[in-house]
Parts: sequence; structure tokens; C-alpha cells
Amino acid sequence: MRIPIIAGNWKMFKTVAEAKDFATALPAIEKGVEAVVCVPFTALSSVGEILSRKNVSLGAQNVHWEEEGAFTGEISPLMLKELGVKYAIIGHSERRAYFNETNETVNLRIKAALKHGIHPIVCVGEDLQQRETGQTKAVVKEQMEAAMQGISQEDLFKFVIAYEPIWAIGTGKTSSAEDANEVIGYIRQLIADQFDQNTAIQVRIQYGGSVKPENIAGFMDQPDIDGALVGGASLKPDSFAALLKGAR
Ligand code: G3H
Repeated sequence: MRIPIIAGNWKMFKTVAEAKDFATALPAIEKGVEAVVCVPFTALSSVGEILSRKNVSLGAQNVHWEEEGAFTGEISPLMLKELGVKYAIIGHSERRAYFNETNETVNLRIKAALKHGIHPIVCVGEDLQQRETGQTKAVVKEQMEAAMQGISQEDLFKFVIAYEPIWAIGTGKTSSAEDANEVIGYIRQLIADQFDQNTAIQVRIQYGGSVKPENIAGFMDQPDIDGALVGGASLKPDSFAALLKGAR
């Protein structure tokens, strides 16, 4: 039985004061769905405790693969763990596109997060040109195989995978629920090929890309979709609460 998981990704939004306002205004989350908010690094220490009182887990938006060292501007898994971070988004398409994230560095970050007890939310997905030329499955296969490189079955159970077609992110366009379910079913097949069917049916896989309170139920109705990674609609407490309600 996979518990649905809704993760907000605030991206580069909210000062510490704004983050605290959000956490304070959010109603306590009822059981039946797991809630995560991935806040900017600067807000992690201020909102973690308030969120945990509301049954919301703390997430980061990236993690470096080294524990410490001369890596100006980077944040290590040790530093995140100290702040109570439970999840870290890894390989978001914005990091792949703007910050030279590669399949190899995604794999390094995943291993470092797991080593320190942080669950990776691993993002995969195709861009518009890849979709239009029929390459969706090939792109997702390459990303998934690289992400799972050298990962044990025990660690794979700690993964959350987010399938985010890049053309649906922040655009108001969504994949149809059926199309998203088909790709997510394919991701499950890739896990089964690498491990086994039993592993594949236990890993939680989210859809991401213009998910809102109004459309979340359609995605959640699909058999292979276990939740959503949400950007814009996760920024307001009432909207985030409505997403959680829609996912139960
Ligand atoms: O991480 C979240 C995704 O990039 C989706 O963003 O909900 O604003 O389209 P969005």
C-alpha cells in the first residue's frame, strides 16, 4: 500500500518571514497523505519545527554529494540532516537546465542523501521537443537508469520519483492524467527490470507540472500516480491544504 505524498517545491520564493507566515497559517495535516514542503535553504531552520507540529515534513531543493570541503556556495547532506531535513529534491529540470546538473551528478547526490538518511525526490522528464519527437520513454529510461546506478534494493524503497514533463512546468499546461499514468507505469517497469516487480509496486511516483487543487484529483485517480510535486500552487497555505485534501 503506497501512501500518497504531496511535496511543495517553493523554488526561489519566500523570505524567512514569509516562510514562517506560511507555516504558521497552514492547518494541521490529517492522516492519509504525507505532506512535504521543500523550502529555500535559508528558511530550513526557521520553519522545520512549526511544520513538524502540523505533520508536514521538511524538504530541501538540492544537496551536494560531499560532506564538507572547498565547494563555495554548496550545502552538504550533513548540514541538511542537522536541520531535520527528511527529503531533498534531486535533479529537478531547472537544475539540469540552468546549473549543469547531469545524470551522473544526480546519482552522486542521491547516494550522498541516502547515506545521511535523507530521502531523495528524484526528478525525471522530457522537454517539449523530446515529447514531440517520440523520445519521452527513451529520455526517462536514461535518467532512471543513471539515478538507480549502484543503488541497493533497500535504498530504492526510500526513493520518491517525480515524473515532470518539462513543458508542463509553470506553463498551465498539464499532461493528461492518462498520459502521465502511462509514463509513470513505464518508470515502474524500469524499476522492475532493474530489481523486481515487488520493488516496483512499492516505490512512490509523483506527477509534477501545473498541478493545482482543481486538477489534482484527476491525477490521483490514476492507478500508478502516488502524489504530486507542486511548484506555484504550493506557495499559499490554503492552496497547499486544498492539494492535500484533493490527494486523500
Ligand atoms: O517542482 C515542481 C515543478 O517544477 C512543477 O511546478 O507546479 O509550478 O508547474 P509548477
